[in-house]
Amino acid sequence: MPLILGLESSCDETAAALVTSEREVRAQRIARQEEAHRPYGGVVPEIAARAHVEMLGPLVEGVLADAGIALGQVDAVAATAGPGLIGGVMVGLVTGKALALAANKPLIAVNHLEGHALSPRLTDPDLDFPYLLLLVSGGHCQLLLVKGVGDYRRLATTIDDAAGEAFDKTAKLLGLGFPGGPAVEQAAAKGDAKAVSLPRPLLGSPEPHFSFAGLKSAVARAARDHRPEDLAASFQQAVVDCLIDRTHRAIHAVEASALVVAGGVAANQAVRGALEALAAEHSMRFVAPPLWLCTDNAAMIAWAGAERFAAGLTDPLDVPARPRWPLDPDAEKVRGAGVKA
Ligand code: KG4
Ligand code: ZN
Repeated sequence: MPLILGLESSCDETAAALVTSEREVRAQRIARQEEAHRPYGGVVPEIAARAHVEMLGPLVEGVLADAGIALGQVDAVAATAGPGLIGGVMVGLVTGKALALAANKPLIAVNHLEGHALSPRLTDPDLDFPYLLLLVSGGHCQLLLVKGVGDYRRLATTIDDAAGEAFDKTAKLLGLGFPGGPAVEQAAAKGDAKAVSLPRPLLGSPEPHFSFAGLKSAVARAARDHRPEDLAASFQQAVVDCLIDRTHRAIHAVEASALVVAGGVAANQAVRGALEALAAEHSMRFVAPPLWLCTDNAAMIAWAGAERFAAGLTDPLDVPARPRWPLDPDAEKVRGAGVKA
């Protein structure tokens, strides 16, 4: 049974994990850098890259020790090769190359987005291709038809901010701290979602895409006159409404029997609940990974590695790090989209 070592370092989480092709997470360790970035209210790429350099080696030793195995016993090394902050991606990829070389095992360069996209299959063996995926993270907001490993059709993307980015900026604006998503969700629980009237950009639009920048600006304008809790709740509801409207449109545009959500924003209970209801209304299965698998982690990278390994997809040791790397290379360019890591 193939055993894959996975490495993740594309943003502000450094992580290593050992996952088998039989969906067993043998070990995983994760080092969060929240404290280091908190004074700046956002991720500082240089600080992140240095922290990855310091943390990744010990984390790899740690997971090997946890699982009680030697490096030579892994069958392949999977590392995030993009998209993301280039300094961090290079640290992880170069470490993966060195480990693959030392163990004389194949390297698998994993697209971080494919890690998120396939993550629901790690914990749900019954989730078959094709499925409709809402991928909502700090850097991305996309609807994808997941047709198979390495086979994605992008149906929609954001024309400005990603959903998680909107959460993070709103949290900063409301003084709720960093990281923003969980802080907004907590504050929203104590607020009234109907208290502040906020826009729902592109709601009902015949275009498939998302937009969140106008929503963020509206929160900024309303900030003086309302309680942060009410603003957080109203903002969260507006995001949920936009995500549901756009996903609903996609449901009618493709054939898929399951609706799947992945990425950091998938940890949000209001988002999960609304998507679950939408899926039920359309007699679709709804699959959301457990919370620990939503935000960045290495188990999803190891799992994507296991899926690629099973498909015979390995990479040469000179494979480049890619700060930008679309899952669907044929997707047409959309204004503002794909600019962010
Ligand atoms: O997938 P992820 O960990 O990193 C990226 O690949 O971007 O996603 C991080 C994003 C951040 O913007 C964070 O604020 C958001 O996910 N997030 C949440 C929640 N937990 C994390 N957003 C809303 N509600 C949450 N509970
Ligand atoms: Zn991510």
